[in-house]
Amino acid sequence: MAATHSPMLRALAGDRPEQTPVWFMRQAGRSLPEYRELRVGTRMLDACLTPELAAEITLQPVRRHKVDAAVFFSDIVIPLRLAGVEVEIEPGRGPVFANPVRTRADVDRITAIDPADLDHEAITAAIRIITAELGDTPLVGFAGAPFTLAAYLIEGGPSKEHLRARAMMHADPESWNRLADWLSRVSRRFLEAQIDAGASAVQLFDSWAGSLNPDDYRAHIAPHSKASVIDLPVPVIHFGVGTGPFLGDMRLDGITSAVGVDWRMPLDEAAAVLGPDVTLQGNIDPALLQAPWEILEKHVLEVLRRGRSARAHILNLGHGVPPETDPDQLTRIVELAHAQQGLGA
Ligand code: CP3
Repeated sequence: MAATHSPMLRALAGDRPEQTPVWFMRQAGRSLPEYRELRVGTRMLDACLTPELAAEITLQPVRRHKVDAAVFFSDIVIPLRLAGVEVEIEPGRGPVFANPVRTRADVDRITAIDPADLDHEAITAAIRIITAELGDTPLVGFAGAPFTLAAYLIEGGPSKEHLRARAMMHADPESWNRLADWLSRVSRRFLEAQIDAGASAVQLFDSWAGSLNPDDYRAHIAPHSKASVIDLPVPVIHFGVGTGPFLGDMRLDGITSAVGVDWRMPLDEAAAVLGPDVTLQGNIDPALLQAPWEILEKHVLEVLRRGRSARAHILNLGHGVPPETDPDQLTRIVELAHAQQGLGA
């Protein structure tokens, strides 16, 4: 495990290190020419399951940008692939499933697979290579939250409003609960494998939770998300997009160390909602990565200023790095954040 004095782990514990730690969701990937070169001829999910390749791709942005954390190069659908579910990532689109899970019989079939039987050897092998090179820089592991995974699995692919998933939770709550419970156990196993192999923190991605209303989130989603991360031996970051209307619930009854905030809600407002017992992560607007540096710089300084309202702040984007981003913009953000001394105390 990475030394607990690293700025990232200190911030997760509620401390304010001299320099605000910074990393980027989707820092590994298409914004980097060295990634595009390595990926030629290998499908996305095959790359994730080739330990040397996944390790190298994870390390590329750490070497280039000098970020305070690595994030494991994998995908939220990898545990489903390990469960034998037929899934591919279509470039420019996202995860696509050969057999969507729509009926009670579909739910019976998929939940008959025991998450305890999944073989995570390709994951743990990659993480052992990564942590050996990282030294004191922590590795963030991750998994998809049950709702976001279900939204893909039930639709069969990406969708805008996730209508079929939201329909199932009301039309057939029994099937919904069985599927969401199974997904929470699958993601939990994926997280445990990453932690056992050396990840020092984990992030639960509920990217599409923003399509829910607060009552549905509380009743049908939060208990399953909580089950996927409760009592893990490392700090948990919980991230969603568009979750402003139920941001307080993203703390999952106080078990998360940090909540990720998207670009819509200023961090001081988020801190007022979430209170003094949680670290905030975010929330540079990914759109501003396309702006001239002077404008982006002002925005980053404003995010850092507002982040001072929280007990601690981990600088990140409000969602992932868009593929067309000039990677030098990311390097400049890291340099800027590290040059701001004493933002704490
Ligand atoms: O953050 C990181 O750098 C770690 C790697 C990571 C990937 N996917 C790599 C990836 C993480 C944390 C994810 C999680 C993930 N995957 C989420 C949650 C985070 C989020 O963005 O909201 C979701 C929704 C997915 C599903 C998924 N996988 C989508 C929607 C896509 C994009 C499809 C496209 O081509 O635009 C993917 C593919 C994917 N996952 C890529 C990467 C680097 C691009 C694949 C490529 O290089 O062709």
